[in-house]
Amino acid sequence: MRDVAIIGVAQTKFGELWDTSFRELIAEAGLGAIKDSGISGDDIGAMYVGNMSSGLFVDQEHIASLISDHMGLNPVPCTRVEAACASGSLALRQGIITVASGYEDIVISAGVEKMTDVVDATPAIATASDQEWEAQQGATFPSLYAMIARRHMYEYGTTREQLAEVSVVNHHNAQYNPYAQFPFEITTEKVLNSSKVADPLTLLDCSPVSDGAAAVVLCPAEDAHKYTDTPIYVKASAQSSDSIALHDRKDMTTLNATKVAAKKAYDMAGVTVKDIDVTEVHDCFSINGLLAVEDLGFTEKGNGGKVIEDGQTRIDGDFPINPSGGLKARGHPLGATGIAQACEISWQLRGDAGKRQVDGAEIGMTHNVGGTGGTATVHILSRDQN
Ligand code: COA
Repeated sequence: MRDVAIIGVAQTKFGELWDTSFRELIAEAGLGAIKDSGISGDDIGAMYVGNMSSGLFVDQEHIASLISDHMGLNPVPCTRVEAACASGSLALRQGIITVASGYEDIVISAGVEKMTDVVDATPAIATASDQEWEAQQGATFPSLYAMIARRHMYEYGTTREQLAEVSVVNHHNAQYNPYAQFPFEITTEKVLNSSKVADPLTLLDCSPVSDGAAAVVLCPAEDAHKYTDTPIYVKASAQSSDSIALHDRKDMTTLNATKVAAKKAYDMAGVTVKDIDVTEVHDCFSINGLLAVEDLGFTEKGNGGKVIEDGQTRIDGDFPINPSGGLKARGHPLGATGIAQACEISWQLRGDAGKRQVDGAEIGMTHNVGGTGGTATVHILSRDQN
C-alpha cells in the first residue's frame, strides 16, 4: 500500500444558498480544490462524491456523471457514495483506498448536499434512521438525539448548561470562519431559551439545514511535492458500523462505531489521543459533540460535559475541537460535512486557519457520523510524512 497525501482543498460557503444550484455548488468546490492542488484536469484518475439524498432534496439522481460532466471532467469515472451524514468521509476513504492501492494516482474526493430547496427537510433526513422501528413510529433525528441526551443526563448527571456549551464554543469559533453559516456568538442563556425542538434540545443545540460542497485532491505521498509545498499526509482512515436503530444497542450513551473507528485509526497512525492537536467532530446536535469527546477517548465516559464546561475543547484548550464552528455553526450540508472537516484540518495543519488557528498544530483528526452512529469514520492527518 502506498502512503497518500492531500494536495488541494476547497469548500463553498455553507448556508441557505438560493442563488447557487446543486451542480454549481459541487463544481465550485471541486474546481477550487483542483486549482489549490496545482494539478491539471488531465491528471485526474477518478472522483468520488459523498451525497446523502439528492433524489429527495433536489429530485436528481445519477449525480456522479452529472457532476463530472458539469465540472468538464468527462470521461473521468465518478462514483457517488452514501452513508447518510457520513457520506463525505466515505468519499474521502474511497479516494484514499484508490490511491493507496495503486489503482489511480490522482483522485478527487468531494461531498455535496443542497437541502434548502425542500419545504421541510426533516422527513428526508429521517430516511437515514431505521424506517420500521424509528421513522415510521414518528422519530426524527432531533428526537433520537434528544433521547440520547436525556439518558446521558440521567446516567452521568450531565447538565443542560454543559450541552449548551458545545454550541456556545462552536458559534464562537465560527465567527472566524468565512465559510460558516452562522458566524456569530451566542450565550448559554440564548441556547436554553431558544425554541424547543425535542426536549431537552432547543434550536441552538441543533445543526442547521444547509447547502454546500467541499472537495480535496489526493495523490501518492511520494509525488506530493511535485504539486504543492504544503501537502498533508493521511496517517489513518478507519470506518466502523453499528445498528442503525438506537434500541438495538447495549448502551445509548456510547457510539460504539466511533470508539471502534477511533481505536483502529490510532493504531494505524501509531499515535494516541494525546498526540492529536486539533479535531473536527460530528456535533450534529450538542449531545453528539459531547459523546464524541468521550468516545474518541479525550476523557472518560460521563466526563464530557465537565471537560467542555472547563474550556478544554476551546481553540486554546487542552484538546481543541471544531475550530471551524463544527456542524452546529459552520453548517451541515450532509454529504459535504466529512470533506469540509478534512479541509479544515488541512488548513489548520498548513497554518492557514487565520484567527481560528490552533497554535502549532501538527496532527489533526476528523470524526464523521452517519445517522445516530450506524456508521462512523475517523481520519488522522499529519503535517509531516513520518
Ligand atoms: N441554529 C441556529 N439558527 C437556526 C438553526 C440552527 N440549527 N436552524 C434555523 N435557524 C434560524 C434560521 O436562520 C432562522 O433565522 P431568521 O428567522 O433570522 O431567518 C430561524 O432560525 C428559523 O429558521 P427555520 O428554518 O424556520 O427553522 P426550523 O424551525 O424550520 O428548523 C431545526 C430548525 C432545528 C428544526 C432545523 O434546523 C433542523 O432540523 N436541524 C437538524 C438537521 C438535522 O437533523 N441534520 C442531520 C443530523 S443527524
